[in-house]
Amino acid sequence: MTFSRRNFVKTSVLGAVAAGVGTRAQGEDPRQNDAAPSGPHKRPIIVCANNGYAYLENAFAFLKGGGDTLDAAIKVVKGPEDDPNDDSVGLGGIPSEEGVVELDACCMHGPTRRAGSVGGVRNIKNVALVSKAVMEHTGHVMLVGEGAERFAVAVGFPRENLLTEHSRKIWLLWKEFHSTDDWWGPGLADPHWQAPAFGPAGKDKPQSELWQDRIQNLQARAGDLGIEPELQLAAVRKVLFPPTGTIHCSALNDKGEISGVTTTSGLAFKLPGRCGDSPIIGAGCYTDQDVGSAGATGSGEENIKVAGAHTIVENMRHGMSPQEAGMDALKRIVRNYNGDMNRIHFLDMTYYILRKDGAYSGVSLWEGYSKGHPHKIAIHDGALRAEATVSLLKGYSQEFPPFPDIPEDLKKGSEYLK
Ligand code: GLY
Repeated sequence: MTFSRRNFVKTSVLGAVAAGVGTRAQGEDPRQNDAAPSGPHKRPIIVCANNGYAYLENAFAFLKGGGDTLDAAIKVVKGPEDDPNDDSVGLGGIPSEEGVVELDACCMHGPTRRAGSVGGVRNIKNVALVSKAVMEHTGHVMLVGEGAERFAVAVGFPRENLLTEHSRKIWLLWKEFHSTDDWWGPGLADPHWQAPAFGPAGKDKPQSELWQDRIQNLQARAGDLGIEPELQLAAVRKVLFPPTGTIHCSALNDKGEISGVTTTSGLAFKLPGRCGDSPIIGAGCYTDQDVGSAGATGSGEENIKVAGAHTIVENMRHGMSPQEAGMDALKRIVRNYNGDMNRIHFLDMTYYILRKDGAYSGVSLWEGYSKGHPHKIAIHDGALRAEATVSLLKGYSQEFPPFPDIPEDLKKGSEYLK
């Protein structure tokens, strides 16, 4: 086994993390404004995951003009929900293993201390708004599956096919790639049938060459399925490393009212019915009018186990700064794996945190996907910007499932995948 510099960096932090010690000093990062408990924080302010950046200007103008905080936050997340080219949320989301898009969302409205949530919703794209409708039009907090879809239709949301042609082709590529012992994919009689690299043709090849063959075959198959050449590598990477795209947004007005919302299509190719953290009040999103708001993107299963957003808000209630509060939640994720970097480097998590006084922080488990591509939080407080998160661990998360020698052009952040 080769022992890369990257492995060394990770291994060297193991002791510190296992001991419950962060690898950065709190408040060390000058980009973020939460170091002083009563610093020069600005209101109104909106913070969100970076895929909401393009929608912040409009939402901030709405908030500044007196619009409700939850409505402002939903204005941000509705952008990616409506965008067929954002395959992490709403219309065009990557589907479940059965090829069906299932969406999750939740929201909390600070001023009225109410919450709404939906999980596993099919055929309705704006699930953030549906979660708000659950809050406003029912005595419940959470609806799931068919009941949530029927409720959405009853209150006026249109049913539509959420599976775009592009997402369907990515799903079909995934289905065929995982299909060595069923009838999906070209049969032996197909002129394009290729002997599997791991069969007799590949028996003398090293693992890395076998994987190169598999990637080339996948890319060729992506072409056969009609995926445009410039999108083929991005499709291949989604097949090999299923993503968990999501968007969270929290908004605070000049009166100190605060709300939050999170929406997602969840983990790509998930088991039907799987709900991640996004629809779980207290995990994907939590807002307390007395304290602040927090939300998450990343490994949903890990975040549920630490009730991340609730943990962060409670930490702030007990005096931690937004950054300290988020770091503590991240350490709980690390603790759940006893600091075992062999597992933790396959996880990632980003928290977006907004305190009631306007202090905010974006924190993440790892610095980003790869060098030059940090995790980011987007902010509008009169100035629109994106800032790198402060990470608990130095270095970059690794792709899951494990993969020998990932080719450069398949790495997240590669020129091919922008
Ligand atoms: N964080 C999104 C999900 O895991 O579904």
